[in-house]
Order: sequence, then structure tokens, then C-alpha cells
Amino acid sequence: MTPAVRLTPEQTAFFHREGYLALGAIMTPEEVDWLKDIYDRLFERKAGREVGDQFDLGGTDEEGKDAVLPQILNPSRYAPEMRQGSFYASASGIARQLMGEEAAFQFDHAILKPARTGAATPWHQDEAYGDGAMDYPSISIWIPLQPATPENGCMQFVPGSHRWEVLPHHCIGHNPQVHGLEMDEADISTAVACPLPAGGATAHHHRTLHYTGPNLSDTPRRALVLVLGLPGVLRSEPRDFYWNRQKQTPRQERARAARRKEEALQP
Ligand code: NI
Repeated sequence: MTPAVRLTPEQTAFFHREGYLALGAIMTPEEVDWLKDIYDRLFERKAGREVGDQFDLGGTDEEGKDAVLPQILNPSRYAPEMRQGSFYASASGIARQLMGEEAAFQFDHAILKPARTGAATPWHQDEAYGDGAMDYPSISIWIPLQPATPENGCMQFVPGSHRWEVLPHHCIGHNPQVHGLEMDEADISTAVACPLPAGGATAHHHRTLHYTGPNLSDTPRRALVLVLGLPGVLRSEPRDFYWNRQKQTPRQERARAARRKEEALQP
């Protein structure tokens, strides 16, 4: 097992100044292989699709249509053995070093870019997916399960953008059926790409503007993301993230139908 990751004072200062940080491998090649098997099985068996946890992040998500950006929310709910991986403990340690001892695991998700057809994930701030009435500081630890390069869709960041407010977003392609968000207008002239080895990691603040390009390579680009943060608090001045109200996605429909089914089974 890989020992817990100790950040240097320079790395911590870099994260707070730039809003992101790239790290080398945080797990062994053997662990990457083990995780890759679990990961591929979850996508193959459409884990979570029925309850809205698996869907097309970048497309309209019709039944039977190939997804351009298959995503699974909460993959470790469908493969609890993932939690045994050393990277969960390492990610928690990184989050505590960057955010303080209160930082705790919130959720995980997986984004697969299929070989040659995987689409770009447009520029966005993660906080834009949340509730504008709340503050819930978090960071995402993004882990590729093969080398990540500009060609297959490694992470790119706009340095310092974590100090911005959450700027207006819309559904990708202005299509309310698409779950993924895109910032209306973004100055990306200073963007930095972060290639990583397999099992490496980037950490980014939930306001940092980021993007991954399309997968132009001949192999799938697998990424697992762990989100860790502080407890949410109600804001004195709520913000209106109206773009989330405008969404009408098949994913939400499936989630609602699953909840209705579960409620009907309650005694
Ligand atoms: Ni994101």
C-alpha cells in the first residue's frame, strides 16, 4: 500500500495561490490495475443507471444511445470494495492538509471518455452544480487510471480562478436535457494543462475553472474523482443558480421514478 501523501509547504502554498495542484502517482501500478477492472465492470453493467446515477454527462442520454461522456455518480456505492483502496485514505489526507482537519469525504464519481469518441468536458466551476443558497467548500481529487495527456483529456485549469465568484453557466449546447454545465463566458487565456501518470492526481478547489479535452486517442480515458469538503452552511445572501432549475434531464426522471417506486414499497 502507498503511504499517505505528505504535501510540502510549497505544494500547499501553490494550491492556495493557484486553486489547483498536480501530484505524481498516489497509488501503485498494481492498485491502478485492480481499480481499472472494477471501474470497467461498473460501466459495462450500467451500474446505477436505473436510479439516475449513471448517465451521459455530455449528451441527451437517450436509452440505447452511445454516451459521449459516460458518468457514474457514487461508484463506490455499487462497488464498495473500492473503498478499501489506499487512494481513499490518501485523498482524505490531502484534503485535510489543504482544508483543515474537518475535511471529510462527500462523494465520488467516475467520468469515462471512450476512445476516439469521448467528448470534451466544457469549462465550468464545480460549485455551479450545487445549491446557490449554501456554502460548502470542497475540493476534488481527480485520478486517471492510465496516463492522462492533452490528447486523451487531462485536466486543464485557469490559475487563480478559485477566487472568482460562481459565474453564470448553462447546460452544454444550451440543451436542458444535458446534465453537464458550461460557463457562459470564460477567459481561458492563461489555462494550464496537467498531464499525469496513471494513478497520479490533481486537486482543485470547487470554484477553480477547469476543462478536459476530447479523447483523441485509441484507448479509453478513465478518471475517478473523489470530492471532499467541509460541512455546508446556509449563506446570508443566497445566489440563484437558475441554470440548475432549467434542467430537464432523463437522469432526473429516472431518479424520481426510482424514488416513487421505493416510497410505494414503504409499509
Ligand atoms: Ni468539474
